[in-house]
Amino acid sequence: MDLLAEEINRHNKLYHTDDNPEISDSEYDNLICELQKLENEFPLLANPNSPTQKVGNAPQKGFNTIEHTVPMLSLGNAFSEKNVADFIDRICKFLTLSEMPEIVAEPKIDGLSCSLTYKQGVLIQALTRGDGKKGEDITINVKTIKNIPHKLKGENIPYIVDVRGEVYIANLDFENLNNEQAKNGLKVFANPRNAAAGSLRQLDSTITAKRPLKFFAYAIGECSSEFKYHTDELKNIKNWGFVDIPYTKTFTKLNDMISWYEKVTNERQNWGFAIDGIVYKVNDISLQKRLGFIAKSPRWAIAHKFPAQQVTTILEKIDIQVGRTGVITPVARLKPVNVGGVMVSNATLHNEDYIKDRDIREGDTVFIERAGEVIPKVQSSVIAKRPKNSTKYIFPTTCPACGSNLVRSEGEAAYRCINHLNCAAQIEARLTHFVSKKCFDIDGMGEKQVKAFLKKGFIKNIVDIFRLKNKSNELKTLDGYGEKSIDKLLISIESSKNISLPRFIGSLGIHMVGEQVAILLAEKYSNLVTLQQVINENPQEIANIDGIGHKIMSNLEQFFIEPHNQQMIKELIAEGVNIAEYKPNKIESIFTGKTVVLTGTLQKMSRAEAKARIQELGGKVSSSVSAKTDFIIAGEAAGSKLKKAESLGVTILDEKIFLQKIIR
Ligand code: IVH
Repeated sequence: MDLLAEEINRHNKLYHTDDNPEISDSEYDNLICELQKLENEFPLLANPNSPTQKVGNAPQKGFNTIEHTVPMLSLGNAFSEKNVADFIDRICKFLTLSEMPEIVAEPKIDGLSCSLTYKQGVLIQALTRGDGKKGEDITINVKTIKNIPHKLKGENIPYIVDVRGEVYIANLDFENLNNEQAKNGLKVFANPRNAAAGSLRQLDSTITAKRPLKFFAYAIGECSSEFKYHTDELKNIKNWGFVDIPYTKTFTKLNDMISWYEKVTNERQNWGFAIDGIVYKVNDISLQKRLGFIAKSPRWAIAHKFPAQQVTTILEKIDIQVGRTGVITPVARLKPVNVGGVMVSNATLHNEDYIKDRDIREGDTVFIERAGEVIPKVQSSVIAKRPKNSTKYIFPTTCPACGSNLVRSEGEAAYRCINHLNCAAQIEARLTHFVSKKCFDIDGMGEKQVKAFLKKGFIKNIVDIFRLKNKSNELKTLDGYGEKSIDKLLISIESSKNISLPRFIGSLGIHMVGEQVAILLAEKYSNLVTLQQVINENPQEIANIDGIGHKIMSNLEQFFIEPHNQQMIKELIAEGVNIAEYKPNKIESIFTGKTVVLTGTLQKMSRAEAKARIQELGGKVSSSVSAKTDFIIAGEAAGSKLKKAESLGVTILDEKIFLQKIIR
């Protein structure tokens, strides 16, 4: 037994430390199996330091969260050729290029992203993406993944480097894993991604060690060395001992990118691992830096998603849902069906016109489509399979929850219930949104609890959530809630009170004001008082924010003008809700907190880029010169604005000086 253990240890070292394996993975697995068998047969002879014990470590208590030195971003999506063309167009305009820059196309692996930190070539930390800023420390688990080197090999190893990529499970391994799980009466995973996530985020790393996880590397995060091109990064990653991302190509023509995408659409089934799109990335890193990012996604990359997978099933019933803003959505209740590994029993029908145009009826056989993580939708009916007695669907004219007449405004597709304050369905949806993960994140409170508490009259509105502590005795008498669970709930309500500004804004449930918009607002205004003031005094300024626009601005205005909404915010604060001042990671510069006006034509940079640069450096870009203007950037042929600035004594920077000031 000891001899076998020694042999395995030798192979471990050859594999992980020396990168010079002598046997294949499956031969290695056989050795481990053999040793395990012997140890089971003769437990008294088993060595506690045996390699069968060492692959993973003892269970841990939860995961620590650790900040990423360089945030892990997400990607914007393109669903059509036009979206990709627009992406290239935007880049060219932003950078004032007449031809598209070189683009790297990589498969978008359907797994779990992970950032691996190597110091002096040694793996010291592995984090999940988490919320992009902070990830979970899964170092111990990651060390059990066979194709992740514990030590980098080759040359050009930076003092510190984050290697980023996707942890995934290959299709065949996934099938085998699920068969094993089912045989042992354990959880069967819906798809390879879920299985990978479930396996990686195990508190007991010995379980992770038994799962067939693999890693594809596709990017570098923090790094003490610089690279000129993304393809250089990939080359180095490969030389350091990683499996680099396969099927990667570079392009200089949009048409070629699209042809490649089409080819991959048909061929990916044979690749052996799940991908859900192609990621296009600008190859030149200096251009990536200039393009920067907006909210959480880079301007220099996009994910071109594959068309949804389709199946057919029976549409049993059409239900009407009332959302938190009163929007009425018809929902298809389906005979449950598997779409791309996920069981689907509900799908959206969008709105009245959608149903009418496609003549979709209850009882029809319908095509269901699921695109990535988006809610599945009913695509069309199969007329040939329509039951004989079927009738056209008639859209309701009153709210199914409160009975008010439904309103459909000019030019809008959706009906709305405008009984915002008293419609039970809207109140419930708003409360459920408010406590949800991305908002106040109240552990132990979800749709079910909101429903129950509303029904019992424990809460009537959002503020009441923070008054539940006064009702703890009554709460404890509720069916299905013990003393402990209520105490726990009250603690999580209390601890949710300290909240960041973007989360708070998102929690308000304002139409079209989600996470990304909330971040943009927080980046610009830092605190709620300033935001409210600008909404009242200068809403146009909000509409001008890149990524916001008029519709969102008017939704914000409508919300904040309502006296009962103002009252609600006051009461929340009175109940101890504490909204932290937002501190974006802005670099201090001469533009920080200053108002800058751009005029004339810049030679080396588009207006959009100059504006983005100033904003990144904490400056405000305004379109007109006034006594409040701090700087004017004067390009060629600057006219009246420059004259006015001169007369007001505003500091004038020409293009050359401007470029010097924004250098990084
Ligand atoms: S690049 C800013 N490349 O997609 C760059 N991501 O929606 C962000 N992913 O969290 C990542 N394959 O989990 C990149 N070849 C690839 C990828 C990839 C899969 C995932 C990754 C990321 C998500 C972004």
